[in-house]
Amino acid sequence: MVEIMHSNILELSRMREQAALGGGAQRVEAQHRRGKLTARERIDLLLDEGSFEELDMLKVGRGDITNRDTRFPGDGVITGHGLINGREVFVFSQDFTVIGGSLGEGHSQKICKVMDLASQVGSPIIGLNDSGGARIQEGVDALAAYGEIFHRNVNASGVIPQISCIMGPCAGGAVYSPSITDFVFMVAHTSNMFVTGPNVVKTVIHKEISAEELGGADVHAERSGVAHFVYPNDILCLRGVRQLINYLPSNNRQKPPFLDLNDPPERTDPTLDYLVPPNPNQSYDMNVLIYSILDGAEFLEVQSNFARNIICGLGRLGGQTIGLVANQPAILAGVLDNNAAFKAARFVRFCDAFNIPLICLVDVPGFMPGPEQEHGGIIRHGAKLLYAFTEATVPRMTVIVRKAYGGAYLVMNSKHIHCDINYAWPTAEIAVLGPRGASEVIYRKEIDSAADPEAVLHEKMEQYRKRYVNPFLAAKRGYIDDVIFPSETRHRLIRTLQFLESKKSARPDRKHGNIPL
Ligand code: HXC
Repeated sequence: MVEIMHSNILELSRMREQAALGGGAQRVEAQHRRGKLTARERIDLLLDEGSFEELDMLKVGRGDITNRDTRFPGDGVITGHGLINGREVFVFSQDFTVIGGSLGEGHSQKICKVMDLASQVGSPIIGLNDSGGARIQEGVDALAAYGEIFHRNVNASGVIPQISCIMGPCAGGAVYSPSITDFVFMVAHTSNMFVTGPNVVKTVIHKEISAEELGGADVHAERSGVAHFVYPNDILCLRGVRQLINYLPSNNRQKPPFLDLNDPPERTDPTLDYLVPPNPNQSYDMNVLIYSILDGAEFLEVQSNFARNIICGLGRLGGQTIGLVANQPAILAGVLDNNAAFKAARFVRFCDAFNIPLICLVDVPGFMPGPEQEHGGIIRHGAKLLYAFTEATVPRMTVIVRKAYGGAYLVMNSKHIHCDINYAWPTAEIAVLGPRGASEVIYRKEIDSAADPEAVLHEKMEQYRKRYVNPFLAAKRGYIDDVIFPSETRHRLIRTLQFLESKKSARPDRKHGNIPL
């Protein structure tokens, strides 16, 4: 009996050693040569040291339909759970050295198991993707296997944070699952995302394009908006995930973790009184305000290279995680366009799903006019942002820093779509149109019939500016809860956040709304 036990223990050691080899030394070397870490090395860096508990290490897959000998222990993915700064997370890490990290039935079953566990216990799921997509040799079973993952991605959406790291060439299903998750991290130069790779592009549309040009990190960070974060290598990427997790609750039933950065809540910043230039056509950098008010000047910007006319990101105020959405007057004058509306809408919905209060800093001249934007769908994209802010039930605060004109004023978390507390700086300009546009409409006859139309226009603009372009009319109507000194912004927001913490807001009884996707 003792002998049998002993041989099984030896067998277990042998099986584990074999599983740990992945696709073998040569393929591991090739992985390293490409500047990529192995699936196991990545898990070690992601999690607190020694905290990883592996599941299904010995599970094998279905194998080639005609040849069952092509089975690897672990089936090309490492799954389990561990800690990030002491908090539980579930993880899967695809092993490109085993059949290109491709996904077959067993591989998928392992991922589904940790996704189910993560949803049941209420912990984030982190996927480290390095995969050629559906495993061709497993035929329709591989497609079915992806379907099971997509189904779980959708059901876990808004329940637990789902984070995807793209750490190699990812194709087909290997990009659709991440695209459903909350945040996509990419590694520059070693990761790609495409539904169909360069070879298929060449065959179908006869176009030569490199993997990098088709779906490199820069493309997805700047143009498609698929990637939320890009890091120069695997190590920094995994550190970035740890940083993000620190801001987030483990599930939608919890509040985000409180972290005191020893930054006094009553701290004022007198330089903010001079941030807005006297000339309304002159720009300034909204980041100055953001970094000034947040605890410890720490801000994790999301999609920092996409639609840079709007800034979205996570920070802390008085120790509480907040989601911040701010127009950036230094880029395209802070105008709202298709990409900006889409970017901010998705971020607002994430924050609302995970109990993260929203703060909106406004300096927006309006929606971007012109056929490009109109034909590109500014009506439905702008409506996404309107919808997202309006349906959000988390504590919501707005500070109007300068321009807040027309529909863009309404959309940017205004009182009229039930933001909780709206402040304005004395420099705020809240009106239907800017002075020139408004004067050209309401004084057109007078201007056209004048001997010097330009002089009359300027006179009318000045009159309009004095009468309408200020925060006081809105404050007198109660649409602005207070006009505040810029230097006191941090303190006022923290005090507001504190009393809003116990806010309760009912949602209508319905299956779900129909956001204009
Ligand atoms: C089986 C695969 C595979 C796959 C790669 N491999 N992808 N095996 N099924 N999908 C294998 C290769 O045969 C090779 O095996 C090893 O993995 C490494 O691949 P290489 O091609 O040598 O690596 P590289 O040059 O870096 O190219 C990586 C790649 C390329 C860009 C991912 O392999 C590729 O284009 N693969 C196919 C991508 C694809 O079309 N997948 C199906 C998508 S459809 P050896 O033994 O030679 O080392 C899909 C449907 C899901 O996913 C539903 C979506 C909605």
